[in-house]
Amino acid sequence: MPAAHTIPAGGLRQHGKTLIAVSGRRMAGGAPGPAVMGFLSIEQLASHVSLPAGEFIEAQAQAGASAGGARFRHAMNRLRRFLTRRRQTTAIPDVVQRAASLLPFVGAMHALEHAARLQRNERILIHPSDDGVDLAATQVALTLGAEVFATYADEGKRDALRVLGANHVLPMAGFVDAVLALTHGKGVQVVLNTLDGEPAQKSLLLLTPFGRFVDFNKTFDQWHVLSTHHNIGLHTLDTRTLLDQEPATFQAFLDRAASGLERGIFQPLEPPIFRIEEVDKALEAAHDRNIAIEIGAAETLPALPAKQRESLIRSDGSYLVTGGFGGFGLTLAFWLADRGAKSLVLVGRRGAATPEAEYALDGLKAKGVSVWAAAADVGKEEDVVNLIREIQAKHPPLIGVFHAAGVLDDAMLTDLTLDRLRAVMQPKAMGAWYLHQHTRESPLHCFVLFSSISALIGKPGQGNYVAANAFLDQLAHARRAEGLPGLGLNWGVLAEVGMAARQELDDLLESYGLGSFTRDEAMRMLELAMRGDHAQLGLMNVDWRTWLNVNRAPAVALRYQHLSDDAMPEHGAAIQALKKELQDMDEGVRVGHLVTLLAGLTARIMRLPEENLDPATLLGNLGLDSLMGTELRGNVEAHTGVVLSILDLQGGNMEQLAEKILEGMGYPG
Ligand SMILES: NC(=O)c1ccc[n+]([C@@H]2O[C@H](COP(=O)([O-])OP(=O)(O)OC[C@H]3O[C@@H](n4cnc5c(N)ncnc54)[C@H](OP(=O)(O)O)[C@@H]3O)[C@@H](O)[C@H]2O)c1
Repeated sequence: MPAAHTIPAGGLRQHGKTLIAVSGRRMAGGAPGPAVMGFLSIEQLASHVSLPAGEFIEAQAQAGASAGGARFRHAMNRLRRFLTRRRQTTAIPDVVQRAASLLPFVGAMHALEHAARLQRNERILIHPSDDGVDLAATQVALTLGAEVFATYADEGKRDALRVLGANHVLPMAGFVDAVLALTHGKGVQVVLNTLDGEPAQKSLLLLTPFGRFVDFNKTFDQWHVLSTHHNIGLHTLDTRTLLDQEPATFQAFLDRAASGLERGIFQPLEPPIFRIEEVDKALEAAHDRNIAIEIGAAETLPALPAKQRESLIRSDGSYLVTGGFGGFGLTLAFWLADRGAKSLVLVGRRGAATPEAEYALDGLKAKGVSVWAAAADVGKEEDVVNLIREIQAKHPPLIGVFHAAGVLDDAMLTDLTLDRLRAVMQPKAMGAWYLHQHTRESPLHCFVLFSSISALIGKPGQGNYVAANAFLDQLAHARRAEGLPGLGLNWGVLAEVGMAARQELDDLLESYGLGSFTRDEAMRMLELAMRGDHAQLGLMNVDWRTWLNVNRAPAVALRYQHLSDDAMPEHGAAIQALKKELQDMDEGVRVGHLVTLLAGLTARIMRLPEENLDPATLLGNLGLDSLMGTELRGNVEAHTGVVLSILDLQGGNMEQLAEKILEGMGYPG
């Protein structure tokens, strides 16, 4: 696990959609260490906070300093250069103040680039906000080549917008008519909204078909938008969620904001600053806006009256982990113990049947955790009833459920018998349902369902598994709709332990773009997910470009359109390169070249040494089944652009297939 460091808060904090920049000192062995800064949510606002290593930046970023992501450090170095050039002190509060002032730019880039995908020459209407996002958005929009229509409610804002170069600076009163007049009745393609009520609705009416309405206010009635304005995209945003869910994007924006400031492309913004004594008033006044709260030296900090950081995992009840002796289950058990859980119920059909499970139980007990290693089949309702009854009778109250029981039984649809469907659905889907039904009376604060990326992107041969996981996803939504806790996690590939690692699938999956993550990374993601407020999240490490190249069918689906646009050029380029290679070689060696390519792909999929593959033997006779055939077909298409049928693949040898591919690529046989 990453080491946690305590940071006595000091300097300046910025609260924007619950995002705070905070500075302090890293505690090393009880003594204050180097100055650091990081970003927190409002729930974490407290006199002392702990951040895992990697979630903060050393303010005096030295070469080789271990803390913080490289991008964060990069952003801070840029910021420091910017401050030095302006002959400003690099004292920590200033660095943090500047860092805090980057947040509106992160919000603006998130809104305009990520959500609205604002294009050159498009028109954007930007409404005023107290936190500077409007001023940052004006600057970002102008750098993108858009035409900015910015409204203001006071003269200070008007002047600032003019200085920044907004194309049209309009008073709030009468802005609709003004925009219509200036655009000859056409309106705008994008609205950055911070308003509610009538002005927000009127702004919506200014959108052209296919317009994008980006809402920082979150009070707007989404259904109204959808019902009255088809073809209009609605995006509700907050920067905290971006940091939690897409830290790499957050960091990239932060880096670009710092770079923009350094190079003078962006003008710096100063968020409104409140004194620490005014923190309650400030938060109340701020609602969801960005504000800055100035805090004195760490030693003089008053106890904060605002919400204290709630600990995520509690010690006053029991946590049930189904699949508790599996790869994810044991990782989770240790994570729960490290987070303060005192009573765990780990469940598997066989109980703690392996030496590894017994060893883990000892380790958990050594941490002072009481563990019940239960043998029960969660796919059987009576087992679940007995399990819950026994927890109620003999253990602290059940306060959390993690459903990670599951098995795989992959088969192509034609081989998917009812028994094979049931084998996978029963523990996962029905198990979840029984847990849902029989824990209604328990005071749960979390109900986490371990689903899979397969339910989001599909996988040939996993019809049963996809269906079971899709059920989990929907159950999480349904529970939330009932006011019950529910979180469905579509996990990508866990390395080191668990069902994927056991099958040694990591390399193969990686070659399809499905990278893995470590146990530590998984638990970091779990923590972020549980701290957020989502019904369902995909936690994965996917190289979409590679995945789309191997999975040509989804590449054309609307769902992946924004990814496939990026992926296509490389796909085309790889095939073009192969064509060129073929063109440049003698006719007689082309088939051999393709046989080598095929052998490489086939060996990887069948997990056989390449030299064992005889080019004259039918692939079916080499053991290529229909599941492998589907994978090989995708790979062949990605590399050559030629689509072969599964029958072709199973019924042909590599030499014949190479000839077919050659023909498909336009070389007559
Ligand atoms: N590992 C990954 O990369 C990955 C990726 C996406 C999603 N997931 C999901 O995460 C969950 C955990 O995966 P994992 O990698 O930890 O798998 P794992 O190592 O195979 O563990 C699964 C555990 O579930 C238990 N189990 C199976 N059927 C059960 C039943 N009917 N009742 C009670 N326990 C049962 C098994 O123990 P017994 O045999 O003793 O019953 C096994 O220890 C699964 O639901 C999986 O679909 C995993």
